[in-house]
Amino acid sequence: MELIIDTVDLSEIKEAVEYMPIVGVTSNPSIVKKTNPKDFFEHMRTIREIIGKDRSLHIQVISKDCDSMVKEAHRILEEIDRQVYIKVPVSYEGIKAIKMLKEENIHVTATAVYDLMQGYMALAAGADYIAPYVNRIGNLGADPMELIYELSNRIIMDNYDTKIVAASFKGVEQIKNALNNGAQAITAPVGILKQIFKNPNIEKAVDDFNADWYSMYGEGKGIC
Ligand code: E4P
Repeated sequence: MELIIDTVDLSEIKEAVEYMPIVGVTSNPSIVKKTNPKDFFEHMRTIREIIGKDRSLHIQVISKDCDSMVKEAHRILEEIDRQVYIKVPVSYEGIKAIKMLKEENIHVTATAVYDLMQGYMALAAGADYIAPYVNRIGNLGADPMELIYELSNRIIMDNYDTKIVAASFKGVEQIKNALNNGAQAITAPVGILKQIFKNPNIEKAVDDFNADWYSMYGEGKGIC
């Protein structure tokens, strides 16, 4: 299982990788807009410095035609490094770009996946990660979990190395369901991942244990 964060906010990234077992950072142009960095590539290089080479960095192209997507992918790799995962929307032009990038052994994250057949196409094209948009699919009245379940079955049946990185989350329940339905990875805003620890029962359990401890050894007497 892989937990990835969907943000380019530097302080959020620093804190998240320090506190949680985060293995990567994803972004899209709307996420970049929230931080609005003056120099996009400089900002992405700073993210790479923070997360190191062992965590994955996923950066999205913006063009809509294949040749320009491939050109943008090359520029991203030149400006940052060859380890970057190029996020390519699974459109008709995008699937051609995914095929071409994989022929060059470039890491690809197939994104904007709303439908199972789109996922199968990305799988057949050799994408390293496939990103179904959980909340957006739900908003359209479809079942994102069914898509994840069927895509993950196909990955297992046909023995692909591709991973599903479920994306577009608005709450912890959606993340849990995506993982339980077979997603090998999720990418979510840091704020949603931090909600996991906002359960008041955790604090209560710790307070109850500590009350017993202090009743034995005296108030304020710790282990150290
Ligand atoms: C991630 O790769 C996607 O771009 C992102 O999760 C989409 O999230 P949204 O639906 O909240 O915009």
